Amino acid sequence: MRPYLLQAKAAGKKIGFAPTMGALHEGHLSLFKKALAENDVCVTSIFVNPAQFNDKQDLERYPRTFERDLEKLVASGCHVLFYPEVKEIYPAGMDFFVNVDFGWLLQTMEALFRKGHFEGVAKVVNRLLGIVQPHALYMGQKDYQQFLVVKRMIEALHLPVNLVMCPTVRENDRLAMSSRNMLLSKEEREAAALIPATLFYAQEKIRLIPVDILKRQCVEQINSNPLLKTEYFEIADAESLMPLKDTGEKNKIVICTAVKAGSVRLIDNVLIS
Ligand code: PAJ
Repeated sequence: MRPYLLQAKAAGKKIGFAPTMGALHEGHLSLFKKALAENDVCVTSIFVNPAQFNDKQDLERYPRTFERDLEKLVASGCHVLFYPEVKEIYPAGMDFFVNVDFGWLLQTMEALFRKGHFEGVAKVVNRLLGIVQPHALYMGQKDYQQFLVVKRMIEALHLPVNLVMCPTVRENDRLAMSSRNMLLSKEEREAAALIPATLFYAQEKIRLIPVDILKRQCVEQINSNPLLKTEYFEIADAESLMPLKDTGEKNKIVICTAVKAGSVRLIDNVLIS
């Protein structure tokens, strides 16, 4: 892959890169589409990164659908797949810790419920960027906090890459597409539609109902379904992720939630600008 990409770069081609953990769906394909539209070469990776799983069971049951992924990749027009083994990304005896102060980004929401998760994400994205060396990196709004962590890392390390956010792709009932959705039972899958419904309700009411009341309403609404349990429902400044007590003059707000549907953990968010 390195010679291939070096040659493409030498020929003046622009490289767009969208890393994934596989079990590809329309959300992933939308990243490739944007990368293809804005670059000459589209590169993706499939690597279920052990470093970002704080729960061993979650890692073990993470869906792996390589044959189907390949078909989708070919159909999408994506040019290059990087499919490394764990020992290639993490050779024994080497440490790839990313020494960046992420501040509050690692003290809120996902970081509290998944200890070590973002350190693992930073590690693998830094490693993948070092290998692929793309001009542009495509990541989804779906994982909004992850996007901010990667943005902070790129800034802090002066990595020469342009980070691009791609909007969340949703199912017909607006559930955000996720590789984990296939782990839901039929009942849980139906119940999960309440997550985006509540987020869009909050988006609509954000200027009309005080933040603390709105948050309480939303948690109650989600938890009213016995198959769902809210881990957090946060209304925050979209740049710093600091929770907001009132929306005041703030014009970039993000509403984020994590909900357990049975044993499957789902996250979603909406932006207000
Ligand atoms: P994964 O969950 O496979 O997601 C890969 C990329 O697809 C991420 O940038 C994610 O935000 C984006 N994505 C997922 N669902 C989406 C949706 N419904 N709409 C739009 N984009 C969506 O996120 C990871 O993998 C990993 O943490 C990774 C960045 C690859 C590092 O291991």
